[in-house]
Amino acid sequence: MRFGLIGAGRIGRIHGGNVAAHKGTELALVADADAKAAADVAAQYGAKVADIAGIMADKNIDAVLICAPTDMHSDLIEQAARAGKAIFCEKPVDLNADRIKACLKVVNEAKAPLMIGFNRRFDPNFAALQQRLHNGAVGNVEIVTVISRDPSPPPVSYIGRSGGLFRDMMIHDFDMARFLLDEEPIAVTAVGSSLVDPEIGKAGDVDTAAVLLETKSGKIAQISNSRRATYGYDQRIEVHGAKGMIRAGNVHETSVEVATGQGFTGDPVQNFFLERYANAYRLELEAFINAVEKGVAPAPSGEDGLRAQLIADAATESWRAKKRVEIGA
Ligand SMILES: NC(=O)c1ccc[n+]([C@@H]2O[C@H](COP(=O)([O-])OP(=O)(O)OC[C@H]3O[C@@H](n4cnc5c(N)ncnc54)[C@H](O)[C@@H]3O)[C@@H](O)[C@H]2O)c1
Repeated sequence: MRFGLIGAGRIGRIHGGNVAAHKGTELALVADADAKAAADVAAQYGAKVADIAGIMADKNIDAVLICAPTDMHSDLIEQAARAGKAIFCEKPVDLNADRIKACLKVVNEAKAPLMIGFNRRFDPNFAALQQRLHNGAVGNVEIVTVISRDPSPPPVSYIGRSGGLFRDMMIHDFDMARFLLDEEPIAVTAVGSSLVDPEIGKAGDVDTAAVLLETKSGKIAQISNSRRATYGYDQRIEVHGAKGMIRAGNVHETSVEVATGQGFTGDPVQNFFLERYANAYRLELEAFINAVEKGVAPAPSGEDGLRAQLIADAATESWRAKKRVEIGA
């Protein structure tokens, strides 16, 4: 498979590198509005620099990696679907659920394979947890707990165009909650504050939030987010079921511990997503490549992207209105 990469920024470089490293795939073309970014990534992986139209028009390009800013995703997905490409697109599909629905209509009509970058499903620890849960390790799921805290907040300039914490950050946790509950959430109750940086509050967003999701049968998911954790990127999951509890903890820089009379100390947790999810990014690309080669629908799908967005929209409304909100269809 020959790939074209659109957006050679933080995440584009990771996916581009994984395509180049995968045997049987080639990173052929790279497009970025920043000519230097495109040239650097192309030179690093033996690709050529192109523009977006060139990638779409090139009949030798089988798949596109969409890693440009969020507000370009839905247009690029549509262009790629119409051009007959397989599509891997970073989360989110769009910040507007109606726009996502229109985009998925084009994808379905073109029968284009589409996968959305909810990378955490492919983290080896979380994937193993989900597999054991699915195999009945703790019986019927009752409460899913997802803890997700960034080491430090992004610049306030980013907050304004991010879509807000629920759509930008917690969207990953909504997807994880759906993945583990194995039943669609129907309602959400959200609270949020700006305790980390008052400027985030002035920009109309929160940096600290907790959300409860309910399913029709009464299963519950609780999600805790913060834009700051002094000890690194805090990523933990626990699921309580009828027969017990299953959990996956943080990944530390090393597993070395020092014990003295004052107690035990260990290394900080891996600092942020590029380190913590390096394996997940590699494995999600592998899953995309395998699905396209076998002609099966890749997952997480565009529909998964829409479901997570609808929960994020309901959570944003719940936080603003200070009430429980039913999730849209
Ligand atoms: N799944 C994850 O863990 C994860 C992590 C980070 C980012 N993301 C998502 O990936 C996307 C990119 O985020 P990032 O952190 O890599 O951003 P970034 O700013 O580092 O990279 C974006 C790149 O797109 C380029 N670009 C901007 N306008 C363009 C245009 N008109 N044409 C071509 N290129 C253009 C920029 O020059 C930049 O190099 C976002 O949608 C974000 O939500 C997902």
